[in-house]
Amino acid sequence: MRFARFFDRSRRASLANKMIHYAQPPVLIRDVIDDLSLVRGLLERNAPYTPLGGWYRAGAESDLPDSALWFQNDWVHADLAVEGSDLFLWHEAYLEAARRFYDAEVVIPQSIYVNLMVAIAEGGPAHTDNPRFQGRGRANTPMWLLRSMLWSGLFDDWAIVQATAIWWMNDVEGGALRYWPNGPDSPPVDHDKDMANTALVGDNHGMFHQVGPVGPYDQGTIRVTSRAELAPAADGSGDWEVRDRGAVRFRAPLDQYRVSVLWKADIYRDEAERLRQTASGLSFEDVARIYNRDLEDRGADFRFELERLEDPALAVALAEVYPEARPIEALPSIYDTATS
Ligand SMILES: [Fe+2]
Repeated sequence: MRFARFFDRSRRASLANKMIHYAQPPVLIRDVIDDLSLVRGLLERNAPYTPLGGWYRAGAESDLPDSALWFQNDWVHADLAVEGSDLFLWHEAYLEAARRFYDAEVVIPQSIYVNLMVAIAEGGPAHTDNPRFQGRGRANTPMWLLRSMLWSGLFDDWAIVQATAIWWMNDVEGGALRYWPNGPDSPPVDHDKDMANTALVGDNHGMFHQVGPVGPYDQGTIRVTSRAELAPAADGSGDWEVRDRGAVRFRAPLDQYRVSVLWKADIYRDEAERLRQTASGLSFEDVARIYNRDLEDRGADFRFELERLEDPALAVALAEVYPEARPIEALPSIYDTATS
């Protein structure tokens, strides 16, 4: 049972400091959406789209043209659910695939967001998606700490298992998804042909993945400021355009943008497991205590001190003890060459 990865203490101990979160290969679903005009309606009603901020450049807000043409918007998140988002949120094939993938009874859809990408010559970063734990998430815990907690393997009993579906609207120039279904040390696989209206359902929190370059390539990676917006052009042509501080920086029909819609759901083996897990959230004191017990066992010469949460040196020290895996054969990323 796949949940054993997350809940079997002896197995976890035996795999300590290895890549224990790699997942089974994702499941490919075809002909996901019957009526694509519904998606176009969603895209248009929820424009404009803004450049990806992300955890690689947290807090970036500048007039430097340091953002690639990678735009994003939430359609479902916390209290938000835009009109028509049920099309994805409660998609029967997603729910069924997630249940099977995890051999789980409880699938609770959480979020939907959309990515629109164009003219990115290097592609995105190879990564696993950001982890969440009972009581600890992006809202109350630094991202570096959440990732360290994941890679330490010490907090798996509190890890919220999340399924992800990625759906592609269209086939564009490039835009493949590279993924590492057999772990970061085994060769990756590319999903790169006939992507239109397909979805991959799997564990993007455990499996490395990376967006390949997206055309057109004749201008290299176009960069704009974080104030840029992507929206349908006002002239009724059907084109979408990127405007940055009043000027049009890129313009093309929607079909030339790589459009992907991401779905995430929390997964519990059964209702009893959900109740058990959600009953106890991790406090910062719990986190410190668990790290420090392990650091002591390892003979490390430092301890996890809560006063040092903002201290980059603590993050560096923990990363040396609990290193994050790096997948082989990753493609160059826009973040390798970004100006900030
Ligand atoms: Fe991702």
